[in-house]
Amino acid sequence: MNTKKIQVLPSILSARMGHLAADCRRALEAGADGLHFDVMDGHFVANLTLGPDVLRALREELPDAYLHVHLMVDRPDFYAPRFIEAGADAVLVHIESPCDVPGTLRAIRAAGKKAGAVICPETPVGALADVADAGLLDEVLVMTVHPGFGGQKFLESGLPKFRELRRRWPALDLSVDGGINTETGALCAAAGANILGAGSFLYKAPDMAAAIAGMRRAAEAAAGTER
Ligand code: DX5
Ligand code: ZN
Repeated sequence: MNTKKIQVLPSILSARMGHLAADCRRALEAGADGLHFDVMDGHFVANLTLGPDVLRALREELPDAYLHVHLMVDRPDFYAPRFIEAGADAVLVHIESPCDVPGTLRAIRAAGKKAGAVICPETPVGALADVADAGLLDEVLVMTVHPGFGGQKFLESGLPKFRELRRRWPALDLSVDGGINTETGALCAAAGANILGAGSFLYKAPDMAAAIAGMRRAAEAAAGTER
């Protein structure tokens, strides 16, 4: 059973970029536990998004927000320290990144921040064994779409990965990103996920507070943690 507290993190990739601070504040006021911040460099994925100066500006606007930074870049070793300096609370690095991933995770931890590894849909859980067994991880993020764009369809092939991760490393936080809504979030929570990232579903919802509450309730029930 998944007994960790369920967290809901809206992905601000789906926010209005011209009203980014307002849309971040709206998500927090609607009950979000923090914000998921997608960084893409045009190399690791075919899209370009947000840099450290945008994170710094958001940190200034939202001093208490929990900022969860997902690095989809070729050089997370270079960028992780810049996002930490700009105000990140958690930094998540793709295990597939062509650089020193263990060293990057150590640097995130040494800065006192939460360190996570991310796996793409085609990457098996076993690819995490070295860094997980070395105790370098606080969190694993399982991608349930191919990274790069919001609004894609949830890939069920991610579900068995949560069960394997929960069995092998029960203390880790497990997050999911891609195609998450009330139903798919509950499926992931039943399999062991405790942090739900969701972009288009939450930002397109007519009532974001109701959508967050509904997603949280369904996930808690599915995880057996409902009180
Ligand atoms: C995709 C990003 C996701 C994206 C999810 O590469 O990492 O965080 O915003 O968007 P939805 O929830 O619309 O699939
Ligand atoms: Zn993401």
